[in-house]
Amino acid sequence: MKTILVTGAAGFIGSFLSKRLLEQGHKVIGIDNINGYYDVRIKEARLDMFNEYDKFVFYKKNIADKTAVNEIFEKHKPEIVVNLAAQAGVRYSIENPDVYIESNIIGFFNILEACRHNPVEHLVYASSSSVYGANKKVPFSTDDKVDNPVSLYAATKKSNELMAHCYSKLYNIPSTGLRFFTVYGPMGRPDMAYFSFTNKFIEGNTIQIFNNGNCKRDFTYIDDIVEGVIRVMNHPPKKVNGEDGLPLPPYAVYNIGNSNPENLLDFVDILQQELIRAGVLPADYNFDLYKELVPMQPGDVIVTYADTSALERDMGYKPGTSLREGLHKFAQWYKDFYG
Ligand SMILES: NC(=O)c1ccc[n+]([C@@H]2O[C@H](COP(=O)([O-])OP(=O)(O)OC[C@H]3O[C@@H](n4cnc5c(N)ncnc54)[C@H](O)[C@@H]3O)[C@@H](O)[C@H]2O)c1
Repeated sequence: MKTILVTGAAGFIGSFLSKRLLEQGHKVIGIDNINGYYDVRIKEARLDMFNEYDKFVFYKKNIADKTAVNEIFEKHKPEIVVNLAAQAGVRYSIENPDVYIESNIIGFFNILEACRHNPVEHLVYASSSSVYGANKKVPFSTDDKVDNPVSLYAATKKSNELMAHCYSKLYNIPSTGLRFFTVYGPMGRPDMAYFSFTNKFIEGNTIQIFNNGNCKRDFTYIDDIVEGVIRVMNHPPKKVNGEDGLPLPPYAVYNIGNSNPENLLDFVDILQQELIRAGVLPADYNFDLYKELVPMQPGDVIVTYADTSALERDMGYKPGTSLREGLHKFAQWYKDFYG
């Protein structure tokens, strides 16, 4: 059993990952600043899942606070670190760039420095499918060039990969970046389409479907992401020397996505059906009254589509939950949570 530090532990992915790790008997040190980017009641509800575990230690701290990060590392000496704390969201980064630099760049730098001074077996960190920008070639492969981000959010995630590469090379820190593709599920993020559309339907407001519905997203269910993260966590890149006798960077990057992109209009159709099935909306709800097709937004991309062959090859794993099954679980949770 290991001591695992999870940043962003009150977040969507961080909380489900922490819960699974605790179930497996690990000690989890969680850090989260519980910021107000979205409804903090959801973050508190996620943290409530840990009440029954005495191997969970929580710090309400900002990873941009170097002293706090160092103190936590020195006290707990984590063997594995999973950095999920970040300012997420593509559109928000257009209006609020500062917080992306603070959390995603300075915060991540503090984590790297802490791993340098308190050696870890493996640093795993969240990157994003957004690093592929407006790349035309699909599916997106980790061998593709990703030098053309179309949002500051994407630029910070690509920067994380570069910073991790440099620390892997200089200090021989095994690190793996994970490019997640549109993660969804129960207790998810209210800023994401499946959740915000649901809120709007309930309020009787119109939803906007970007690029007139001609967008595709590779929706990935939360349990599949957690499974992928845990498999990767347990397989750090090997430390080996190159021809010059110096260590090669123990560095890797993987896509974790469903590898089955769905058209946004089909996605909205399935969401509607599942919201009715779960009793969130009445059977005769007239969705056509509440749909507006609008043009593309700045920072958005037309398609995301993960090539997961490297994950399958190295970890023997491929996410597989269908969108219908995942949205069914989301709709049921929504009904229970909001009544
Ligand atoms: N959910 C997705 O579809 C998706 C896709 C690609 C990448 N990612 C990345 O995965 C990670 C987790 O995403 P999520 O969906 O769980 O998001 P989330 O917003 O639910 O979780 C992030 C958590 O980090 C915390 N946080 C933010 N800045 C912090 C800081 N400076 N110090 C301490 N805590 C801080 C937030 O309070 C939040 O609870 C993020 O790095 C995100 O960029 C998510």
